[in-house]
Amino acid sequence: SQSPLIAPSILSADFARLGEEADAVAGADWLHVDVMDGHFVPNLTLGLPVVQAIRKATDIPLDCHLMIDDPDRWAVGYAEAGSYNVTVHVEAAKDPVALAKNLRAAGAKAGLSVKPGTPLEPYVDVLKHYDTLLVMSVEPGFGGQSFMPEVLDKVRTARRLVDTGHLTLLVEIDGGINDDTIEQAADAGVDCFVAGSAVYGAKDPAEAVRRLRAKAVR
Ligand code: DX5
Ligand code: ZN
Repeated sequence: SQSPLIAPSILSADFARLGEEADAVAGADWLHVDVMDGHFVPNLTLGLPVVQAIRKATDIPLDCHLMIDDPDRWAVGYAEAGSYNVTVHVEAAKDPVALAKNLRAAGAKAGLSVKPGTPLEPYVDVLKHYDTLLVMSVEPGFGGQSFMPEVLDKVRTARRLVDTGHLTLLVEIDGGINDDTIEQAADAGVDCFVAGSAVYGAKDPAEAVRRLRAKAVR
């Protein structure tokens, strides 16, 4: 398949220096931005004004991961802010097909995310409207958690649906991706790898991105 994409998560960066922290991973493919509302997940991070500021500060395509209630109401704003990809949670979206259309109309790719316990099968028809599928490999809410290998079955299912032409999307994984876990995710068929603590916890974040990408090549 094509060369793997690496998306450092700024959740593990220094929030007082977000522009410099984006520059520190200038060789990355996407910059992953975790938006949490304190309701859909038990943590609160940042919202639209901060995404708008990051968008001005970097040319790296922004991959916004909305862990929020009522994405039907809020997600399009993140597309209009110039995000490359906007991902919403299927557990939170009321009308995910309409939402995908609205995100695309606003100029962004549309992403759909599933928590570790959420199955894929009920959403295959919905996913026909999406450009990315974000498989959570930790419970959403916090960085630095341990990778859950049991979600790899879902990755393999998604890979099969794409390779057989039933879906046209990138398979993305988020949570606990590091030097020790990225290879099994790559083997299962992931296209795009989010990594927070493994990149921003490293002495040299740019080097960490290169190392992760090299390990993910299949
Ligand atoms: C967790 C977030 C992740 C998080 C990943 O809810 O969605 O993007 O930043 O952090 P690591 O890579 O440290 O697990
Ligand atoms: Zn995320």
